[in-house]
Amino acid sequence: MTQHLAILPGDGIGPEIIEQTVRILDRLIADGLDADYQYAPLGGAAYDEYGHPYPEFTQKLCRSADAVLLGAVGGPQYDQLDRPLRPERGLLAIRKDLNLFANFRPAILFPELANASTLKPEVVSGLNILIVRELTGDIYFGEPRGIHTNAQGEREGVNTMRYAESEIRRIGKIAYEAAQKRNKKLCSVDKANVLETTEMWRQIITAMNSDYPDVELTHMYVDNAAMQLVKAPKQFDVMVTGNIFGDILSDEASMLTGSIGMLPSASLNETGKGLYEPSHGSAPDIAGQNKANPLATILSLAMLLRYSLSNEDAAQRVEQAVGKVLAQGLRTGDIYEDGCTLVSCSGMGDAVLAAL
Ligand code: IPM
Ligand code: MG
Repeated sequence: MTQHLAILPGDGIGPEIIEQTVRILDRLIADGLDADYQYAPLGGAAYDEYGHPYPEFTQKLCRSADAVLLGAVGGPQYDQLDRPLRPERGLLAIRKDLNLFANFRPAILFPELANASTLKPEVVSGLNILIVRELTGDIYFGEPRGIHTNAQGEREGVNTMRYAESEIRRIGKIAYEAAQKRNKKLCSVDKANVLETTEMWRQIITAMNSDYPDVELTHMYVDNAAMQLVKAPKQFDVMVTGNIFGDILSDEASMLTGSIGMLPSASLNETGKGLYEPSHGSAPDIAGQNKANPLATILSLAMLLRYSLSNEDAAQRVEQAVGKVLAQGLRTGDIYEDGCTLVSCSGMGDAVLAAL
């Protein structure tokens, strides 16, 4: 049965990196992958076209698709818009609408890029961490929220950290299962010494360990986890945490590799439907200059093939092609070092296509 993909180029460098990724997808389809795709706008691009960052057109297409591939959203020209109309709200809305509660953010150091990290090579060489971030709850969505004037006539901002037991259990299950497929170590990150929500988080994740006795569970407060990630990151295998801590720690972890331009991510719902996007943002400063690194998006396509289309062969074919161009010494500006060949965004696309 033909699988339907929704492709959302988004803003900034989004359209360029998606263009290169679609060339790869076209080749796979030409070689027999039973899939088709349709484009829709998200974020600022959607606001420009429809007046809303997650318009009905996009919603319909994404709801009926088997998987969604996204470039990136956001740009300074949208910063003055009313909050509900900003590009980021489009991203949050699609996550919530498709119930994409499980966010996988791998931080892997590619051996060819060992020098890209600002940390000492011995601290990061061989690094392979998976952050499992809860994506549809927590202070991101908790009510009440807003900015209002209090009884003293002073403005007051309010957000609410909130998790239901069932939300913690379902992300816990995903994280334990991921650990079982890897090195069987799970570190749950919380702030249980201060925040009740995460005290309950810790209780639930601990109780679940009896269903996964082969997984070694540890707990860490988020401030310590932030420190340990730069001090001794190789102690981690899988980390599981809530939405806001995961947002922060995943940026930190990605930079250990020195190349956020290389890291894909997947956000899945209970049925394996997913949204796939690079871990980096829309980089408005280099948008439209054919300089961006398309590899994180190409690797996101590989994740899409693996998790939503269950096509391991195609996923590996893409990943191996990326490995090959790195071995050939081709680099976009973000990962460039002396002795390598500097290529453009489309030049990188050419090379991956050739390696495929
Ligand atoms: C991310 C981003 C988003 C988030 C923003 C753009 C809303 O930082 O995907 O990590 O905070 O989740
Ligand atoms: Mg973030």
